[in-house]
Amino acid sequence: MIGGGNVGAHAARIAAGMGADVTVLDRSIARLRYLDDAFGGLFKTRYASAGSTEELVLAADLVVGAVLVPGAAAPRLVRREHLAGMKPGAVLVDVAIDQGGCFETSRATTHDDPIYLVDGIVHYCVANMPGAVARTSTIALTNATMPYLLALADKGWAQACRDDGHLADGLNVHAGKLTYFAVGEALGIDVYQTSLVLRSA
Ligand SMILES: NC(=O)c1ccc[n+]([C@@H]2O[C@H](COP(=O)([O-])OP(=O)(O)OC[C@H]3O[C@@H](n4cnc5c(N)ncnc54)[C@H](O)[C@@H]3O)[C@@H](O)[C@H]2O)c1
Repeated sequence: MIGGGNVGAHAARIAAGMGADVTVLDRSIARLRYLDDAFGGLFKTRYASAGSTEELVLAADLVVGAVLVPGAAAPRLVRREHLAGMKPGAVLVDVAIDQGGCFETSRATTHDDPIYLVDGIVHYCVANMPGAVARTSTIALTNATMPYLLALADKGWAQACRDDGHLADGLNVHAGKLTYFAVGEALGIDVYQTSLVLRSA
């Protein structure tokens, strides 16, 4: 598992529960420490350097890419040249495909036609995996988002953002002013503080 966040931790737990020998790679030492504590050594953890990532990818039967850099495209962690050194028939699952993908050879697929081969390596890059359990995932998502929707509907967007820092963090643009730092940095556009934008809204 490359990335030990929500996706990586759950995928690791399921795979280890099925008897697989699993290693989770992450750039966050704090996260690796937490995974070790919380899962009691059910799977191995390692810092995700370029060297450790390459070593494990080349030896793996299954690689799950589950990295997230908020606001930015996913970093390309497995390059095409790695595929030739992997086990024939090994599988790359790029969960981060909805953020551009973390393998060089990834392209988004659908549940209708989920896999393709590159250099003998199976790629699974379904951009909407929860769509396989559409009803369940919709109910789960709706339960989590409903309080925010109610706040927006009851108070209007500006007051709801003033009252809840999490909603304010979700404001990207208002009246032509960008308020999302990572996008401004990536595109070289001026970024305004959300609190200032809200003051005049
Ligand atoms: N395709 C789908 O249907 C689907 C479904 C759910 C989530 N996702 C995507 O899966 C990705 C992971 O989601 P999440 O909820 O687990 O995110 P998360 O923020 O919980 O975890 C991401 C982890 O990646 C780690 N990370 C960042 N850069 C790294 C690097 N270079 N090497 C190793 N680790 C690195 C972070 O430290 C973090 O622990 C996101 O891109 C999300 O959009 C896709």
